Amino acid sequence: KRSVVLGCGSYLPQKVLTNAELAARIDTSDEWIVQRTGIRQRHIAAEGEFTSHLAINAARAALEHAGLDAQAIDLIVLATSTPDHTFPATAVAVQNELGIHHGAAFDLQAVCSGFVFALATADNFLRSGAYKRALVIGAETFSRILDWNDRGTCVLFGDGAGAVVLEAQDQPGLPSDRGVLTTHLRSDGRHKAKLYVDGGPSTTRTVGHLRMEGREVFKHAVGMITDVIVDAFDATGATADSIDWFIPHQANKRIIDASAHKLHIAPQKVVLTVDLHGNTSAASIPLALAVAVKDGRVKKGDLVLFEAMGGGFTWGSALVRW
Ligand code: ACO
Repeated sequence: KRSVVLGCGSYLPQKVLTNAELAARIDTSDEWIVQRTGIRQRHIAAEGEFTSHLAINAARAALEHAGLDAQAIDLIVLATSTPDHTFPATAVAVQNELGIHHGAAFDLQAVCSGFVFALATADNFLRSGAYKRALVIGAETFSRILDWNDRGTCVLFGDGAGAVVLEAQDQPGLPSDRGVLTTHLRSDGRHKAKLYVDGGPSTTRTVGHLRMEGREVFKHAVGMITDVIVDAFDATGATADSIDWFIPHQANKRIIDASAHKLHIAPQKVVLTVDLHGNTSAASIPLALAVAVKDGRVKKGDLVLFEAMGGGFTWGSALVRW
């Protein structure tokens, strides 16, 4: 069996926050932010607009793109670090809003690597035959966990959601066949204090704020990202030349450029949305994917490489024949 992507969709909150607006509030500048990160603006969820609302809109868009009724879905895996509530899972709110009362829905937390972890999880459930069609969603409202007085972090993140629909299909499983070809997930908790939230139900009983040693994250990112991409290449025989599109987690243009350069991936194959979306954590890959599918870059049969790295640290890659 292979997990074939039937469609994708995304949703961004209406409100856009530009670098200039941030510079009016805190000691920063458009020039500093663009130079260090490539970010020009980010979307911010409105008061009363929750992660589940963003996720539901993205899920509906993905189902429409797939030409599928919600009732066909029997698995929802939602990656988020900013759930509506501590429990129940935000995935259950999405499931209920879509009118699905069968199958299973759960959240998965791997911070910025969440979408790749969720894709790999759903892929394994589909290939095992446990479920038939999955919604894989990355949805975040990071604006709610930012310390808006910390210029080292608050300029980096934004809100949004993206989703893909996967279907288990019987195939010989050749590299030329459509679907998820391989996934590779990693984590190493020795780095857990380099990027974390200083709250939580069991520790402080508060939600807390994101804290980051930016330089430390940067130092490890490129090596981890390129290692796990090499794993994907080794497993499939794919190369930097044979992939059609590189859709990385959108944290920082400098990390993306350095990773692509190290792997000899041509710049024109790199899908970049960090300028417009900022870092939307688990949502960034499906948001970028939806842009590249909509504008006609990603076409049927294309070989698409996903990659992410984030808090934990966690990191991972996925290679998909579109
Ligand atoms: N505006 C202006 N100045 C700032 C800002 C800001 N928004 N933020 C920090 N500075 C200042 C600092 O105070 C410091 O000033 P000082 O020298 O007077 O003390 C100076 O800029 C340099 O600070 P650094 O933190 O050393 O700057 P650096 O060049 O490392 O850039 C950045 C910071 C952009 C966060 C960088 O470290 C980075 O991109 N790290 C990767 C982090 C990342 O992408 N995390 C995302 C989550 S993880 C993931 O998704 C992969």
